[in-house]
Amino acid sequence: MGGTSPNVRWHEGSVRRGDRRRVTGGEGAVVWLTGLSGSGKSTVGARLEELLVAAGRGAYLLDGDNLRHGLNGDLGFSAEDRRENIRRVGEVAALLADAGLVAVVPIISPYRESRGAVRKRCEEAGLRFVEVHVATPLEVCESRDPKGLYARARAGEISGMTGIDDPYEAPQNPDLVLSTEELGVEEAAAAVRDLLG
Ligand code: ADX
Repeated sequence: MGGTSPNVRWHEGSVRRGDRRRVTGGEGAVVWLTGLSGSGKSTVGARLEELLVAAGRGAYLLDGDNLRHGLNGDLGFSAEDRRENIRRVGEVAALLADAGLVAVVPIISPYRESRGAVRKRCEEAGLRFVEVHVATPLEVCESRDPKGLYARARAGEISGMTGIDDPYEAPQNPDLVLSTEELGVEEAAAAVRDLLG
């Protein structure tokens, strides 16, 4: 993904993944929840985090919206900024997974290539990456419109809204597809937890 700064060296610590596992209750992993705005990915992600922590497994929610309040507060919604957003969140998720946590990442991440780069980054580091497509159709997301963004996009008040006048590239080989209309939040979160094992 991002490359390396000049004149820096990797400094290896001495704590091994096996040591961390004893503290965090299991293997680290990245659970990447991709889907349209309003698809339910944040709700499923929050419930998944809750289920894992209640079962004694270290997990942490890295919500795309929330990270745009801090780490990614300097980014907008151009293609370049979205790519950088996904790259940064991918790097943070990989760090958390390396620390032994399950990083639960609800983020639109509309570009197949960017998601693929995060997968590659994780897998090259020996970390599990699970891609979950929260496949709620646009019509349903638009009818929910929790933030009123679709209505504003249709009215021409905002441009570049994913699914309206900006692309969303659905995963071709996701590890899991969730239909939150059919499943409901509870079953959807449980399905991801079961996949993690
Ligand atoms: S991503 O495309 O870069 O992956 P991210 O998940 O971080 O997006 O942020 C999406 C959130 O930003 C949406 O849930 C929505 O609340 C808000 N948002 C504001 N403008 C847009 C837009 N043009 N397209 C999509 N989401 C937007």
